[in-house]
Formats: sequence, structure tokens, C-alpha cells
Amino acid sequence: MKFPFVKSKIVVEGVNTIPFESFFQELREKEYARLDETGHTYLDFTGGNLYAKSQLDKHQRMLRENVYGNPHSTNPTSLASTMLVSEARQAVLNFFNAEDYYCVFTPNASGALRIIGESYPFSKDSRYLLLTDNHNSVNGIREFCKSKGGSFDYGYLKSTDLNIDERKLEEQLSSGNPDENKLFAFPAQSNVSGIKHDLAWIEKAQNKGWDVLLDAAAFVPTSKLDLKKVQPDFVSMSFYKMFGYPTGIGCLLIKKSKFEKLQKPWFAGGTVEMVGVKAQKHWLVNNHERFEDGTINYLDIPAVKIGLDYLDTIGMHRITERISALSETLFRELNDTSHSNGNPVVRIYGPQNRKNVGGTLIMNFLDQDGNQYPIEQVESRANQKQISIRTGCFCNPGLDELNTGITDEELSKYFTENESGNFGDRTNFYGKFRGATRISVGISTNKADIQKFIEFVRSFRNSTVAN
Ligand SMILES: Cc1ncc(COP(=O)(O)O)c(C=O)c1O
Repeated sequence: MKFPFVKSKIVVEGVNTIPFESFFQELREKEYARLDETGHTYLDFTGGNLYAKSQLDKHQRMLRENVYGNPHSTNPTSLASTMLVSEARQAVLNFFNAEDYYCVFTPNASGALRIIGESYPFSKDSRYLLLTDNHNSVNGIREFCKSKGGSFDYGYLKSTDLNIDERKLEEQLSSGNPDENKLFAFPAQSNVSGIKHDLAWIEKAQNKGWDVLLDAAAFVPTSKLDLKKVQPDFVSMSFYKMFGYPTGIGCLLIKKSKFEKLQKPWFAGGTVEMVGVKAQKHWLVNNHERFEDGTINYLDIPAVKIGLDYLDTIGMHRITERISALSETLFRELNDTSHSNGNPVVRIYGPQNRKNVGGTLIMNFLDQDGNQYPIEQVESRANQKQISIRTGCFCNPGLDELNTGITDEELSKYFTENESGNFGDRTNFYGKFRGATRISVGISTNKADIQKFIEFVRSFRNSTVAN
């Protein structure tokens, strides 16, 4: 059943309107009552989404009332599991309009990215090009490339608005041997700035001979990805980021035409048609199972279908519109918050034009003289008010280096002069703060949450950072 498509707008602080307020408020009361019952203000949706109560109820009923065995067999309980897993797999393919793809279930987005790292045919002549704005699980693929003797480089962003430097990226994509294996990776949406990078880069890169890995982990929770409209070769995501439950399951979508290009470096239970021990040969399965090592999470995978159905009942278009209005309201309100002397209370990173930005906002807090608050202090003050935000560099060091203006020389010096280190050491070494505060909104976010965070920011007005 679809919820009725009623568009209602409500005024927040006389500054902006938030669409579908009564619809989402009802959803909040019905599905996310625990937030208000426990007094939590949750603003870390890019870290992990929240599950709706009905998702749990459906999944638990399914487990309580049925008997499920390990798939890969023909006994009745095994067949029951196999059926639910294949329904969930089909639901993923339907949701993304991905009939040209295999859906490989993985433990999370990182597990999907690892398969690409291990299996992409890197060699001494191949190249890996990735945006500066990537999660570490995409950055880490450079180690696989390096270990095979290949080269890698980073696509530039403009430090002013954190968007892609288009001219430079065009140049980088045009370089390199067209006959060699080349992989270009970028996030559909930044997990830090919230920018939705232009998906037209997929086709542009493919036209220049690149295979494209689209990390969709931060994009798909609030935006529609239609794999008939854009056709990256590989797509990674985690389902808890889309609908909160279950954790521990993600997927890799592999374009069928690129399936044989991936060279799995080993075999495991469940991935082979046949293995010889005396004759040391093996034949891998010719579909998604090739990359699903061992027993899959067959009790939780059916909950992926429940989660996707839940998103469908709300409608992705409605979620996108709601999230973009919530984050724009936040952006405007925060941008307008200043100390009595006119100095801003927060420095927000990213573009002023928020048209192509999702529900994620990053900032640093400033005192009235423009001195930056340590992020630890910001987080601890938010914790005291039961506001869940996130601070640090969010596993995306490229954007942090850009935002904090760390030079190549400073970075190289740190890595050459130290054998090991952590976030705190590094901050001391540079004598500059690193990191930022990130907030992100989601389906259950309401006007009161936004208001609470705005008040939290206002509590820093006319303050001075203690030395
Ligand atoms: C854009 C992006 N890619 C990849 C990941 C890795 O996801 P996971 O930790 O679920 O493997 C994240 C997690 O925050 C992310 O935001």
C-alpha cells in the first residue's frame, strides 16, 4: 500500500517551508516513537539510518513463525531460506531497475569494494583514478592496484565549493593507454559534504575507456538510483544506511557485461561448481554466487526486502524532496547565526547553492573572535544534550585535507617523521585543527530536531574558546 501523496508545508521560524510535514510527523509517531520516548535527537543518518518499528515487527514475525535452514540444499527448510534470499535479491534488482546487473550480497559497502579491489584485473600498466572525495574503503583499493604494479591518482576538487574540478578531471580521464585496464571510482554522494556528484561522469569516463565504480553508499538512502538511466560497471552500498536494519548486509551490483572481467583470486564454499583436490582445478559459479563466500546471512537478507518495501511505500521522490528541504533549512539557519559582533558561529564547508546537496552538512564551530572550537568539545556538549552528531574526518581524509588546508609538504613530513600515529597526534604535529562536525538528516527527522540543533549552535553565541 502506498501512503497518500499529500503535499503539506509548514513554516519553520518563518524562514523556510518543509514539505510533507504532517505525513512525516505521523510516520515519526508511528514508526520512530522511541526517539521521543527516550529523548534522543538523532542527526547521524549518514553514519547509520534508523529502522522503522514495522520493519522489525515484520522480520521478527517471519523468524518466529517459520523454520529456516542453511540454503544450498533441497530440504524444505533450506528451500524456504533460498526462496526468501532470492526474493530479496530480486527486490534489490527491481528497486534499482538493475536487470542488467548481478546483485552480490556482501557484509557492507566495504565488503563490496574489497571484491573490486581483489578482483579487478590491475597490472603494471593499469590505472586507478579516484576522486579526492572518497571514503577510505574506496581509497584502500589503491593498495590492490599498487601491489600489482599499477599506478593511481586522485581527481581534483575545487577547494572553494568541494565540487569536481571538471576541466582537470576531463584531462585525467583523457590520459592513459586506451588498451589497458583503467578503473575510475567516485561517490554518487559525498559522505562528508553531501554533494551529489554528477552521474554524467559515468558515461563520460566509459566513453574514454574507463570502467566505473560508483560508490552509492551515501546516495541511495535518500535519492533514486536508476540503473537503466546510468550504468556504472560496479556499484557498492550498505543497507543499514538505507533503512537502518539489518546491519551487516550490503551489496555489490556488477554489470553483467563486466562480470567475467573480475578475476576472483580464490574460491570458497558456495562459490564453486566443482573443485578437485587430487587434480587441483576448480570451476567458479557463473553468477552472483561466485562472489558470496561461504554461508550468506540468510536470516537477515530477507529483511532487506522488508526495508526496500518500506522505502517504496513512502516513495523515494518524497524522501528526496523532504531531505533536501530539511537540509536547506538547516543550512540557511546556521549560516545566519552570528555572534553579536557579526562573526559567524559556524563555518560550513561546501557550496552555497544547495541544489545538488543531500542531507549532510559539515561545519566547524567558531568563537566570537573566529577561533575554532576543538571538535571533541563540540561533540561532548552535544552528547550532554542527547544530540547524536559525528565529528572527525569521517573516513574521508581527502576532504579533510582540503578543508583544513594541509599542504602536500606538511602531509609528507608527518608521514616521513612518524612510524605511526592517530588523529590527536596529527593535530598536534601540524599545530592546526583537523576534522569537522557532521550532521545528517533522514526520514524520521522532524522540525523539533532541526530546532534543537539550531538552538545548540546558538548556545555558542558570544563565547570564547578556553585556552
Ligand atoms: C560513501 C561511503 N562509502 C562507503 C562507506 C563504507 O560503508 P560500510 O562501513 O558500511 O562498509 C561509507 C560509510 O560511511 C560511506 O559513507
